[in-house]
Amino acid sequence: MISFTLLVLVSLLGYVCAAAVKDIRPLVIWHGLGDTYASPGMVQFQSEVKKMHPGIFVHSIYIDEDAKKDQRAGFYGKVNDQLDLVAAQLASVPELSRGFDAIGFSQGGQFLRAYVERGNSPPIFNLITFGSQHMGISDLPLCSAYDLLCQIARRAARGGVYSEWAQENLIQAQYFRDPTQLALYTLASSFLADINNEVLPPLNKTYAANLASLSNLVLAMFAEDRTVVPKESAWFGSEAPPEEEDSTVYSAQKPFSEQETQAQDKAIIPMHRQPIYTEDWIGLRTLDERGAITLATCPGEHMQITGCWEDLVGKWIGWTFD
Ligand SMILES: *[C@@H]1O[C@H](CO)[C@@H](O)[C@H](O)[C@H]1NC(C)=O
Repeated sequence: MISFTLLVLVSLLGYVCAAAVKDIRPLVIWHGLGDTYASPGMVQFQSEVKKMHPGIFVHSIYIDEDAKKDQRAGFYGKVNDQLDLVAAQLASVPELSRGFDAIGFSQGGQFLRAYVERGNSPPIFNLITFGSQHMGISDLPLCSAYDLLCQIARRAARGGVYSEWAQENLIQAQYFRDPTQLALYTLASSFLADINNEVLPPLNKTYAANLASLSNLVLAMFAEDRTVVPKESAWFGSEAPPEEEDSTVYSAQKPFSEQETQAQDKAIIPMHRQPIYTEDWIGLRTLDERGAITLATCPGEHMQITGCWEDLVGKWIGWTFD
């Protein structure tokens, strides 16, 4: 009799614990450029999150299970195709079926935002993006001396970011937003101009409705970011276009000078003054007016998350389903 009672108690306890564990919303992460879904850094991040939120299920998005190919897919491929693949991948993971919170590192951030806008099934509740390029980049990221993949992609993109080939094959070209060639950008950009609803008209209202369905959007910018130009892209900021005369010049062969872009402090249009926000093209304003957008700052250079991840992951990840 005693042992039976004990058994009931033990199984009850087990059930209660399992229920509590099960009710933590899972987390999906998407790595950044040059990284892979299973790199030591990504593995460590996952284990830190699991220490902070015991029992949480974490899924690391991959384009290819082979780590080398997954890394390559950060440079080469078509973002829209990768997004279709990821949407299918997330829909196929049983643990994610009720929805999840998500963290996008660098370019993974704008890709997760696109996932939300284009379908969001299963849905994301809280989305945190670290140093992402929501308003694109106006310079290509500098590559380290030994990063051949990066160097080749950079050289190819410099040849013509808005060529059809680049827009089909070079990931960074697909979120390159040149303030001196905005008209060309809206015509040619196969990814960013679309998810930013800058291809007019008409707006894709689904994008706005889907993004506005997020519980929270947390945008983290790295204060000393010199990889993302401009760094304020993480907060939906972008470089102001140059004066009239320049912006009408269509110079596809515009010489590309790093010194030039780094020497000058370009004026930045902040999110609140962007038409994408003021005219609510993608639901940002709706979110903000609901108090659902948080602008966070991380000290340090691009993707140095040591100084800020704990606060953000502590606050926005590990919630339970209602
Ligand atoms: C808007 O986006 C949704 C989701 O990606 C898509 O199904 C739909 O066809 C788009 N509508 C237009 C008018 O492009």
